[in-house]
Amino acid sequence: MAETSLLEMHDINKSYGGIHALKGVDLDLRVGEVLGLVGENGAGKTTLMKILCGIEKPDSGRIIVGGEEIRIHNPHHAQELGIAMIPQELVLVPEMTVMENIFLGREKTGSVRFLRKNVMMDETKRLLEDLKCSYINPADMVGFLPKADQQLVAIARRILQGGKAFIMDEPTAALTERETRNLFEIISTRLCASGRSVIFISHRLEEVLKISNRICVLRDGNLITVLEAAADMDKKTLIFHMVGGEIKDEFPKIEVKRGKEVLRVEDVTFSTNQGGIVKDINFSVHEGEVVGITGLVGVGKTELGQTLIGVRDLLSGKFFIDDKEVAINSPVKAVELGFGYVSEDRREEGLVLDLQSLHNMTINSLDQVSNRFVLIKSRENKLGEGIAKRLSMKKEFLQMEAQQLSGGNQQKVVVIRQIVSNSRIIIFDEPTKGIDVAAKSEVSRIIGELSREMKAILLLSSEPREVLGISDLIFVLSKDGMEGPYPRGTLDYEQLMAIEFGAHKKV
Ligand SMILES: Nc1ncnc2c1ncn2[C@@H]1O[C@H](COP(=O)(O)OP(=O)(O)OP(=O)(O)O)[C@@H](O)[C@H]1O
Ligand SMILES: [Mg+2]
Repeated sequence: MAETSLLEMHDINKSYGGIHALKGVDLDLRVGEVLGLVGENGAGKTTLMKILCGIEKPDSGRIIVGGEEIRIHNPHHAQELGIAMIPQELVLVPEMTVMENIFLGREKTGSVRFLRKNVMMDETKRLLEDLKCSYINPADMVGFLPKADQQLVAIARRILQGGKAFIMDEPTAALTERETRNLFEIISTRLCASGRSVIFISHRLEEVLKISNRICVLRDGNLITVLEAAADMDKKTLIFHMVGGEIKDEFPKIEVKRGKEVLRVEDVTFSTNQGGIVKDINFSVHEGEVVGITGLVGVGKTELGQTLIGVRDLLSGKFFIDDKEVAINSPVKAVELGFGYVSEDRREEGLVLDLQSLHNMTINSLDQVSNRFVLIKSRENKLGEGIAKRLSMKKEFLQMEAQQLSGGNQQKVVVIRQIVSNSRIIIFDEPTKGIDVAAKSEVSRIIGELSREMKAILLLSSEPREVLGISDLIFVLSKDGMEGPYPRGTLDYEQLMAIEFGAHKKV
């Protein structure tokens, strides 16, 4: 069977200074397929896609679109060629309506103003209907829509622009399971069925396996293999090619006998970013214990973490540390009380982008790496390097500015910062989001080791496998409140999903 290619990339090379990000990579995208693109953090996935989208220029190599060799000058040019990037970060204008966003830059011009608007409105409705999301109101402000719906608006916009090749770089990172399923449905029935193609990048290998027709594996800037036979499409094979070896346990658990209670949260109420109120939150975390709070994206897990470290108002309720009531009204106070915090939005809140990544790692632990006022380089190196190595971050990355790192390696930097700090209570918000499979396993192991050091760990995560894998106690947060605790081993994946969705339906 002759398969037609929508586009081809041949022998693409790209270096940043001394880092050879892409080494002669080939890739072809066929009409109507989903091509999975996987690889460890820093493997070169985003760089390859940036080249395709005209954001970066390759040092050498050829790109063929529709049978013709093309030099892609800029993102606008890529768009004209039908290459449509759906980035993870919002590219829409939050203050504008759905319709205005979809038509941004190509507003219909008609002599009668009123007609023009009508045409755009009808077209928007038609597009949204076609994506099976006519529940989205074209007149709504985009900034108020849930992330998943914003993504659908971005897809609608790209369809209107004539997109043929849709590039999705970690599109499901902020989506719930249900939203992910919906996106997959749209990919297969709305995009691929009508001859459009998708390049799908994700660290969630189950998803890649489910949605992809073929899967390209990159490692260290090299194209390692392209899997296309159904028989090779399993997680073990994927991991083998990605890391060049095996990983036994994705979320390993270290069992620790818990000590005394460190943190207790009583009848806490706070507000969410969506304007909801979460009430009646009660739980405690003991020394050496990992307490996992899971639930759908957007239900308030992140906001709970923010309330605990004093960056969000506590509307009512009490916090106790070592059984003594404490007021946590600022992050400085939280740090004094022994809190450490790995934020979910690491790029926005966590990193000083133009600071070396090693300094970013030790920024909260200056007492450990300095002698009064003088930074002791060897101590700093030792502190950061050890863990960076375990999370398979190359040594040269430590000297690079945070902004020069790949998305996943930036995430690792912030995780490492908390691991090296001397906090007693560590809150991890989606610690393995966006990081590669080997590092996921390693983060879980390190969380286990922290609990062995009798630190109290609060894990906020919407990744069911992670929560089930490493928590001693599990709570499920929903719009109706918090259910649990479910002790380790009393829930399996299906039961956990049932609780999340059952609660969801009641709303
Ligand atoms: N602006 C830059 N300056 C220097 N190096 C860069 C720059 N952008 C990317 N790199 C390097 O290029 C390599 C590939 O990065 P890329 O972002 O493509 O990885 P990735 O596969 O998308 O990883 P992740 O899964 O973490 O997102 C990395 O080593 C990264 O540090
Ligand atoms: Mg990337």
